[in-house]
Amino acid sequence: MSKITVAIDGYSSCGKSTLAKALAQKLNYNYIDTGAMYRAVTLYCLRNNIIVNSVVNLPMLLENLSAIQVSFVYNNITKSSEVFLNGEHVEKDIRTLEVANHVSKIASIKEVREKMVSLQREMGKHKGVIMDGRDIGTHVFPDAELKLFMTADNDVRAQRRLDELMSKGEHHTLDEVKHNIEKRDHDDTTRKESPLIQAKDAIVLDNTDLSKEEQLNYVVKLIDDFLLTKDTLVN
Ligand code: DC
Repeated sequence: MSKITVAIDGYSSCGKSTLAKALAQKLNYNYIDTGAMYRAVTLYCLRNNIIVNSVVNLPMLLENLSAIQVSFVYNNITKSSEVFLNGEHVEKDIRTLEVANHVSKIASIKEVREKMVSLQREMGKHKGVIMDGRDIGTHVFPDAELKLFMTADNDVRAQRRLDELMSKGEHHTLDEVKHNIEKRDHDDTTRKESPLIQAKDAIVLDNTDLSKEEQLNYVVKLIDDFLLTKDTLVN
């Protein structure tokens, strides 16, 4: 059966990567977490004093951009692609609240986006890919066969993210996490470069009251229906 491109965009912490990972495993597709790429660049900036006191030294970042290599390697144990920064596995280090607090600023920089988008297009050029982010259906793959726009209630999203951080040993308050999510949504939707907007042909998926299994089944059915219609039209 032919493979398609699935673009998943949406607000912060509404389960895009959970859905994308499960879909990729079920369909034997490649999963690319584009947020992880912007997080890896942010981690590099924090580690190399390109971000100091929350201020980004733009000339220094641009000077270093060609030295920042972001890649993915498939992990057979977690059954998912994991992100590497200049050859170092950073999957855990990029998930801290510190990185989350600075990533929107880094993701708003034109040159950073150009570099990441070109990598993303290269990684997805053979289809059979599930890519999640903020601009996948609108900018990276505007011709994706299936576009989803995910959302969920703010309190539910904050609680889910807090649980995830706690399970990794990071302790924060619900208010702190909610503030981070709302600030990122605001920054991501109002920035000049490829802001987060719903693609005209995207299907909205509000998972406030859906379990992981329910949302996975719903999307698998959408893909099955799409492929069936396509194959019927071709034959
Ligand atoms: O999906 P995430 O929370 O890991 O993404 C981290 C940040 O990266 C998010 O605040 C917005 C930015 N981002 C983006 O601007 N474009 C993408 N395609 C993916 C993420």
